[in-house]
Amino acid sequence: MPILLAIETSCDETAAAVLRGFDGVLAHEIFSQAEIHSHFGGVVPEVASRNHLVSAPAIIDSAMEKAGLRIQDLDAIAATTGPGLASSLLVGAAAAKGLCIGAGKPFLAINHIEGHLLSPFFGHETIPPHTALVVSGGHTLLLDVEGFGRYRLLGRTLDDAAGEAFDKVAKLLGLGYPGGIEIDRMARSGNPARFEFPRGMIDSGDLDFSFSGLKTAVRTFLEKHGTPSVVDLPDICASFQAAVIDVLISKLFKAARQNSRRVISLSGGVSANSSLRSRSIERAAGEGLEIHFPPQGLLTDNALMIAFAAAHHLAAGHSHPIDSEIMPNFNPHIL
Ligand code: KG4
Ligand code: ZN
Repeated sequence: MPILLAIETSCDETAAAVLRGFDGVLAHEIFSQAEIHSHFGGVVPEVASRNHLVSAPAIIDSAMEKAGLRIQDLDAIAATTGPGLASSLLVGAAAAKGLCIGAGKPFLAINHIEGHLLSPFFGHETIPPHTALVVSGGHTLLLDVEGFGRYRLLGRTLDDAAGEAFDKVAKLLGLGYPGGIEIDRMARSGNPARFEFPRGMIDSGDLDFSFSGLKTAVRTFLEKHGTPSVVDLPDICASFQAAVIDVLISKLFKAARQNSRRVISLSGGVSANSSLRSRSIERAAGEGLEIHFPPQGLLTDNALMIAFAAAHHLAAGHSHPIDSEIMPNFNPHIL
């Protein structure tokens, strides 16, 4: 069974994981910088890269120590090389490349989205044909998946990502960063039908998304009604959240229907949302579809999902040039 070290530094999590085969978790280390960035109300790229540089050696050492291995024992070393913040990606990619050069190991350049995309099937040697919704802080994508490496983009957000909308609205409401989890928590005691917020592009006929109009609608609402009272805040959160989820669910199930898929998956940080989970599980049961989510710990950014994607690349006989570039921007053709 090949053993891989993977390093993930695409945004504000410094993470390293060691994986044996497809399911042998030997180490799964994450240092989240969320607390540091919360003082700025969002991720500051330069602060993120400086902190990756400080934390990465300790996180990698700790992962190797937990795995009880030396670098020489590894079969390959992987790093996230995009999409993400350029200055953050560089730190993890440079660390992985340095280790590869030092120990003479193959390098694997892993796409962050592919990491999220495959995470609902963590541990599996085969990725089943399915329709996938990747909803994170940076991306909102619908994909048709034939199997590992065979992905077709069906739709994407034309402006803000779903997680970005959660974070921006949380900021408008004076809730903490990252905002998704705060809105989720508040919304649990709120009435989602109390306020009517727009369901952007729900009837657009295609599988694309738009969330910036919703964010503006919440801002306009707050300008009109002033700072929300303690009583209204849960209802605003629940009503906003319902608007996002209505569109996500409508398009996910439409995509599955159009592509005659009986299996669907949700991944990325927003797939941790309790209402998105319960509503999609209920709807999948109603339509007789099989539904998959990432296991706990693999929802938001982590290196284990990168190691899992890397394990599939390794099994397919891939390795990447040590001088391969980072790719900060999303590019549907390299997925
Ligand atoms: O996948 P992820 O860690 O990072 C990216 O690749 O972007 O996703 C982070 C995003 C943030 O926008 C965060 O607010 C959102 O996931 N998020 C949630 C929840 N937990 C995290 N959004 C809604 N409900 C949640 N429970
Ligand atoms: Zn991510």
